[in-house]
Amino acid sequence: MINSKNEMKNLISKMTLEEKIAQMYQLYGGVYDFPEEEGSIPVTGPAEEWEFEEQLLFKIGSVLNVNRAQKARKIQKKYLENNRHEIPLMFMYDIIHGYKTIFPIPLGSACSWDMELIEESARVAAREGSVSGINVTFSPMADLVRDARWGRVMESPGEDPLINEKMAAALVKGYQGTDLKKDDTVAACVKHFAAYGAVEAGREYNTVDLSDYRLNNYYLSGYKAGIDAGARMIMTAFNTLNGVPATGNQYLIQDILREKWDFFGPVISDYGSVSELIAHGYAKNGKEAAQKAVQAGVDIEMVTPEYIKHLADLVTEEVIAEKKIDTAVERILNLKYDLGLFSDPFRYINESGEEKYHLCSTHRKKARQLAAESMVLLENDGVLPLKENLEEVTLLGPFADSGKMLGNWSGEGDADDTVTAKEGLVNELPDETELNVYSQIENISQGKFLDIIETVKKSAATILAVGEPQSWSGEARSRTRLTLPEPQEKFIKKLVNVLKEEEEELNLVLVLFNGRPLELEWYSENIPAILEAWYPGTEGGHAVADILLGQVNPSGKLTISFPYSVGQMPLYYNRYSTGRPPMDQEVEKKNCSRYLDVPNHALYPFGYGLSYTEFEYHNINLEKNKITAGETNQLNFALKNSGQYKGQEVVQLYIKDCYANRVRPILELKGYQKISLAPGEKKNISFEITEEMLIYFDENGQNVIEPGAFEIYLGSSSKDLRECGILEYQI
Ligand code: BGC
Repeated sequence: MINSKNEMKNLISKMTLEEKIAQMYQLYGGVYDFPEEEGSIPVTGPAEEWEFEEQLLFKIGSVLNVNRAQKARKIQKKYLENNRHEIPLMFMYDIIHGYKTIFPIPLGSACSWDMELIEESARVAAREGSVSGINVTFSPMADLVRDARWGRVMESPGEDPLINEKMAAALVKGYQGTDLKKDDTVAACVKHFAAYGAVEAGREYNTVDLSDYRLNNYYLSGYKAGIDAGARMIMTAFNTLNGVPATGNQYLIQDILREKWDFFGPVISDYGSVSELIAHGYAKNGKEAAQKAVQAGVDIEMVTPEYIKHLADLVTEEVIAEKKIDTAVERILNLKYDLGLFSDPFRYINESGEEKYHLCSTHRKKARQLAAESMVLLENDGVLPLKENLEEVTLLGPFADSGKMLGNWSGEGDADDTVTAKEGLVNELPDETELNVYSQIENISQGKFLDIIETVKKSAATILAVGEPQSWSGEARSRTRLTLPEPQEKFIKKLVNVLKEEEEELNLVLVLFNGRPLELEWYSENIPAILEAWYPGTEGGHAVADILLGQVNPSGKLTISFPYSVGQMPLYYNRYSTGRPPMDQEVEKKNCSRYLDVPNHALYPFGYGLSYTEFEYHNINLEKNKITAGETNQLNFALKNSGQYKGQEVVQLYIKDCYANRVRPILELKGYQKISLAPGEKKNISFEITEEMLIYFDENGQNVIEPGAFEIYLGSSSKDLRECGILEYQI
């Protein structure tokens, strides 16, 4: 048994080169394919294809996608019986937004702006995953995204660096808890390093080309925040960055990650991305791919076999120093040690814990809370909340009674365990309400359509539960159109037109289930209420009902811009100033930076989201209008709930650097608070304005703080701003 990290060095010195290289290899758990009765373990899958000997299975460092305690126990047992150093195997898995109890997709969770709750969601996920034997989760994904065409936008926190930082840190803390050795924790792996979210044209696996100035100011801080919060591992990305694939990128891994950020944990490749160095044309063959990845600093190769096949030769030929292998192995074994696996390799494997924790009521309650807080009310012309005269309510659309609203990367989540919109409404509507449900609205006959119209006309409200099928977002799910599926769109337009022609009241509520911002201009003009529900997870149906019926007042605010048109992509609020900013005056418009057909800004901007109540900002006061180095300043104001409902407002602090030695963004989020107020209640609030909020990074990632002027704003969104004054900064 290994009792200290020093003993680890001793252990490494006793390992053969082959054994060490095997630790740097990760296969998927399916290769341990146990026959019914115990016996030998056949080598299957790629391992079979690559003609590995069976013994390799008892030397490799880690596996991914073993998802049950019983299976993990069997594998670990067999592994230890066969591993001559009794080094435990490490189990990894993508716990992205829940393991069994599924929370909203990360893009949805981010819109809650509630980092404590997000941290709790990761605690729940860690508890559920750890009892099933998982040691490391491939999360958080800290890839900043400005292009809704990219399918993985659903896994991201959206477009803003501050939200990205806070979310990455909250998730890491939630997964890892206060002590990684505790059996309800999993180690976090920040991914995908770096800038995967900036793939050109939103097309999956595409090129990323960013200036260092842009990389440093927008894209890197999320990963760093995850690492600063203690994440024990990091994953490289599939993309190239400025001509060099991230998986062979010394600048990213050595210069930034190791040297600047002092990261000491293992770096893992993404799935197959070492071999992909060949397809990139960055390596002539597998051997060179292995060489370049190891030289760049990738400690673990996920799934493809280049390390196993070529590293030993590369060491013998003195192309790669054995010391480099030792360092990688030490990082991997130290992680196993920190997880407590050396003292008890079965520490996390807990069959009865699966019974106890998976989908337990406490976890479901948290999922419901976060789902409701994630939802963003985009429009409300008085239809919501639904409360009076609810004799009859109609629920239409493919998401009306379907559990398929967990979203991609939903772990071991199951649609059958999911509360559908219908179930949620049935549980919460008054007993006397009649709920009509039509799940099928696509490509229906005229007869059926007329039936539906008649029901809609006599209903107090009609809820359209529509959206993208789950498989339309996630990895390798890029789209060029940001529309609802055509048959749904056709149905909704026809319904609205008929109701309008017949001069019927439009008591319609559009509830959207989707993984990315959509083009909603027509809907914004024609449907009185729109709720963005994202893929809300296991308790989605309850959360939808909570919001629609006013049990919970919506408080979500978008962390990503919703466009008028896909042609605006990439679209984000914190864009750089231009020499010819868009003008309001018709006559000045001609030669300025704008489109002829849509505005520059978003239809629903970053930070936007409605509430059932109203908030007023009073007595805004910036204490000083000048600060010098080392000083801070205070922004004070009072927030009043002047409406009828208890509610939460996310108050947002934005700063604009008026002039500098580099062109600066027109606005940047620098702080926020989520404030809860009863009707009529007023609270005094303050933000501390620090020097840190005034800095930016130069091309080398060095902090720059310049004397100058900074406009300060309080926003209820990035477009609904209150001027607070100009702050001068002197050095
Ligand atoms: C994804 C990663 C994921 C890995 C393992 C890859 O295809 O890009 O995000 O962690 O697979 O499942």
